[in-house]
Amino acid sequence: MVKNRKPIIAGNWKMYKTASEALTFVRELQSAVSGNEDVEVVVCPPFNALVPVVEALRGIGIAVGAQNVHWEEQGAFTGEISPGMLKDAGCRYVIIGHSERRQFFGETDANVNRKVKAVLQHDLTPVMCVGELLSEREDGITEKVVRDQIEAGLEGLTPGQVAGMVIAYEPVWAIGTGKTASDADAQQVIGFIRGLVSKLFGEETAAQVRIQYGGSVKPQNTASLMAQPDIDGALVGGASLDVESFTGIIKAAAGN
Ligand code: PGA
Repeated sequence: MVKNRKPIIAGNWKMYKTASEALTFVRELQSAVSGNEDVEVVVCPPFNALVPVVEALRGIGIAVGAQNVHWEEQGAFTGEISPGMLKDAGCRYVIIGHSERRQFFGETDANVNRKVKAVLQHDLTPVMCVGELLSEREDGITEKVVRDQIEAGLEGLTPGQVAGMVIAYEPVWAIGTGKTASDADAQQVIGFIRGLVSKLFGEETAAQVRIQYGGSVKPQNTASLMAQPDIDGALVGGASLDVESFTGIIKAAAGN
């Protein structure tokens, strides 16, 4: 089945790597993935490494993303960073609403929505994360949870804005646990999300928006996840910290 959406593999480094470790990583990654045109590759280092990584990757075809953002332009918000600052640092993507932000830092759907709107105003691409807890899956309310997150997160956006963004479906029970969702389960929820986007923003938008799977993605499970009709890439945590495994994922997503 031929998809006309370019797959996007993004590495979420979380709170790992100093700036010099990050530079070593991207130099090795560069040579490992050079010439790859079939997959869009993004690395999301911690804030300390954003600028050096952007500089090291200039002209290389690997984009850089941030892991969080505040919705205000500037102000007395100790410890926060604004969309304009990330744009100025050379970021193109911003992960928003990751489950760790929701769980440990009180991120709400309303905040996610503010952040999505704020980064779009700066021509940055949001990677908006959604996903259910294990207890919610066991209670059979996965679709309801994901629907609420999508509806609230995308509230007030135009179809054109939604078409250009990335949504990451990450079941919380699969993150960092080694337990990947089955291909069928991942496809089922991601297909549901695409259907919901179609209802809310129209078929054309739904056909364009890229939806990633995330949660214990590894080189070995990438190809079969990517073969699902609605899965357009992966948001990778643990396996993105190692050049060999991240490269394996990129190659598997490119079909080689
Ligand atoms: P994982 O993390 O690949 O280590 O499960 C995914 C994520 O948190 O985005």
